[in-house]
Amino acid sequence: MPAIPPNVRGAVITGWGSALPLKVITNHDLEQTIDTSHDWIVDRTGIHQRHVGGSTVGLSVESGRATLEMSGVELSSIDALVLATTTPDRVVPASAATVQHQLGLSCGAYDVNAACSGFVYALVQAHGMIAMGAKKVLVIGTDTLARITDWTDRNTAILFADGSAAVVLEAVEGHGQLLGWDLDADGAAEKFLYSEVGGLIQMDGKEVFRRAVRIMVDSATKSMNHAGITADEVALVVPHQANIRIIQASLDRLGLPMEKTALVLHRTGNTSSASIPLALADALDNGRVKKGDLVLLVGFGAGMTAASAVLRWGGTTADGADPAVLP
Ligand code: ACO
Repeated sequence: MPAIPPNVRGAVITGWGSALPLKVITNHDLEQTIDTSHDWIVDRTGIHQRHVGGSTVGLSVESGRATLEMSGVELSSIDALVLATTTPDRVVPASAATVQHQLGLSCGAYDVNAACSGFVYALVQAHGMIAMGAKKVLVIGTDTLARITDWTDRNTAILFADGSAAVVLEAVEGHGQLLGWDLDADGAAEKFLYSEVGGLIQMDGKEVFRRAVRIMVDSATKSMNHAGITADEVALVVPHQANIRIIQASLDRLGLPMEKTALVLHRTGNTSSASIPLALADALDNGRVKKGDLVLLVGFGAGMTAASAVLRWGGTTADGADPAVLP
């Protein structure tokens, strides 16, 4: 992908929020139903528990509402709602349309399916809309993978879960927060991870693992190059929360220490489109990001897709001043 042209209208994130279903399934719960163990799951994935339940619309409305409240934007000022999801509640209409109605918005609304890379795809699109004149965009990442998981298959049942998280992007004077981005897909690899319409997830775990590390490193490197930064300048990495060993191997190759990583995987499992914004919201809630920090988002998923973005938290202007949010 090309580098961002100079002088495009930029954006900053001014609010965030998340939602997890109340029901928790621990590894010990899974020991009762499939041939596995808590220790094996923790050792091979880093996951201790996962939240399951709810609908894609219901979770999106919850995280979307929390996000809008935090940012304090007028509902009527939202220009677009982009919902990243692999698990819409219906084939048509887009779940985003129902979420738009339930949140009381009056804007364009559509779903994006790029599997676990979906949130970064949607975030990049939202910046594009702002460059073209939109002022405020709500971006939500939600998945309800429990509904398409075979709970008798120990290969996948240990990994997947449900959740949602969102951000509000607002246009600013100046360049904004997005310094570099990359979106990739390799349809030839679709056979390693897929679900037919109405079916359950089929996965070749070893092949996905092998490819995931390669494409995360490749995508993150492209984004950092476009942003003109090096790995040691990154303050926080927010990787797709699929497997702690994939994250460790990727960060190792990128020369980034695990202390710089946002992690919620141990308590959420793999929530696909929700995974990166859930980890980002958690890091922000815990004060791990300060103004001016460089944040690297990087994910991979079925497709096989990969996506990454480098953000300078709070944005930048040509003279280094704080960019003003446009009314
Ligand atoms: N519990 C206990 N033992 C198990 C389990 C289990 N759940 N699963 C496999 N085993 C056993 C195997 O039978 C094997 O035993 P053996 O050595 O006696 O033959 C041994 O454990 C090792 O099995 P592997 O398949 O080699 O285990 P691996 O370390 O590869 O872990 C896993 C499997 C966790 C699925 C891993 O391959 C993985 O995470 N892959 C990536 C999957 C992923 O991230 N998918 C999401 C993509 S994002 C999206 O779009 C949704």
